[in-house]
Amino acid sequence: MGEIVIHSVKTTAFDDQKPGTSGLRKKTRHFQQPNYLENFVQSVFNTLGDCRGESLVVGGDGRFFNLEATQTIIKIALANGFKRIIVGQNGFLSTPAASCVIRKYGTLGGLILSASHNPGGPDEDFGIKYNGSNGGPATESITEAIYATSKSITHYVTADVADVNLATLGEVTLGGAVVTVIDPVSDYVELMKSLFDFAKISTLLQNESFSFCFDAMHAITGIYAHRLFEQELGAPEGTVMHGTPLPDFGGEHPDPNLAHAKALVAKMYQNDGPDLGAASDGDGDRNMILGNNFYVTPSDSVAIIAANAHCIPAYRQGLAGVARSMPTSGALDAVATKMGIRCYETPTGWKFFGNLLDANKISICGEESFGTGSSHVREKDGIWAVLCWLNILAERQQSVSEIVTSHWAEYGRNYYTRHDYEALTNEQGNGIINHLLNQLTQPEETSNLIRRIAPTLTLKTCDNFSYTDPVDGTTSNNQGVRFIFSNGERIVYRLSGTGTVGATLRVYIEKLELEKAQQNEDTQQILSELIDLSRVIARIEDISGRTEPTVIT
Ligand code: G1P
Ligand code: ZN
Repeated sequence: MGEIVIHSVKTTAFDDQKPGTSGLRKKTRHFQQPNYLENFVQSVFNTLGDCRGESLVVGGDGRFFNLEATQTIIKIALANGFKRIIVGQNGFLSTPAASCVIRKYGTLGGLILSASHNPGGPDEDFGIKYNGSNGGPATESITEAIYATSKSITHYVTADVADVNLATLGEVTLGGAVVTVIDPVSDYVELMKSLFDFAKISTLLQNESFSFCFDAMHAITGIYAHRLFEQELGAPEGTVMHGTPLPDFGGEHPDPNLAHAKALVAKMYQNDGPDLGAASDGDGDRNMILGNNFYVTPSDSVAIIAANAHCIPAYRQGLAGVARSMPTSGALDAVATKMGIRCYETPTGWKFFGNLLDANKISICGEESFGTGSSHVREKDGIWAVLCWLNILAERQQSVSEIVTSHWAEYGRNYYTRHDYEALTNEQGNGIINHLLNQLTQPEETSNLIRRIAPTLTLKTCDNFSYTDPVDGTTSNNQGVRFIFSNGERIVYRLSGTGTVGATLRVYIEKLELEKAQQNEDTQQILSELIDLSRVIARIEDISGRTEPTVIT
């Protein structure tokens, strides 16, 4: 095969290519404007330095524009000298599977096309993120460098080749490079087999008195769930709902929570409903776990997985440590204390777990936002979390609600809720945070205000969370404003870093209940005093006019 022709294309820099909590996310049409994607991809490669001879993984969650973007990236990668490009068939790779493939084939990294749980389609969202050779999201220093490069880019290079047929598995040689189209599922299945007791899970799933339902929400995990749960593990056909990935996710919001996974929730909240229900998001990294008539909070889920790690072959030898994002409840801390291991508290976003996992300081980690994962990859992993629960259920032969309530009896229950105020203007969002920061400078007045509104609460500390990575020593400031009360109750505020328009204020509210007799109450009811207080301290109504959040999880 001869040389490929490379064109250098003159371009104008954009000033808005700053990656957020999880990569660059914008409206799809914004991404489709001439050179927008090209500039960003070239900025990533410029940041990485000399890419000649290197290998790269490319894949995405199948949303609208995924395929076209994949072809564009292949051409730019070829022109930048990559020698091997591994692409998921049809441009598909779930986020955790992309992480698995990067690690397995030892590539320089990967480009993942996804806007996670955000809706997809021409008028919805698109996104791209770079993951490094450990399979995890690029660290802040790299994303900052990519952003800096994107602001001054003047040219990108692209190879003059035809589109690669991404429907057919196999290798295509282009010049001196090889593009390999892989089955997006099989490497991931092999990894899962190495972690879990497939024989035991399979016996459970084939037992007629047990039933399981998985909602893929018309997104990428459909292809993984059909293969794993139905074909490999023998769950009855029909176990997987909405299992065909669609570019617009069926016009729905592929976010696995009680508000968006409506069909699954309806199934689970009937008296003869399935014993275990689960859902995953657009790109397959989030998960929601339900029992019959029972919701497991993500903060509890990671704590329960850690406490039951002995049920799962991969973690039977013990956990190196655990970690949670700061706003996630303290349920995991209680498990770590009992196990005599360390629980790290990191800022929001999976990228902060990467160093801890690489340095073998932690084995299991999670976030309140339906993210759970382990050292097996460097992303959170929805299907992995479901397999954890299946493995625990198969081992303990108890129901989901029995497992959770006995966990609370042992460790206490962390009543927990998150209130989101979506689609605020940036001015309102920043106004609320600035007001809170101002409150921090007047602890006396803040305490008085709290005493007036919530007489049962005593403020212990309040701060603006800052994190110093114990592995590389880098510090990340402004990671959320915290109010911590004397019995461990907490109110935390931060602005979302994944939105594509305006600002979203997230308010996280938590209270620990050690009394078994008080552990079966309604969460919003139990937290009502803290919830009222959360609105007053932040002056939410005065600043934004909002009296209620838009989403409660
Ligand atoms: C949200 C979640 C965060 C998660 C991220 C990516 O980010 O809160 O925990 O890591 O999505 O899935 P946010 O919009 O809050 O910045
Ligand atoms: Zn996601």
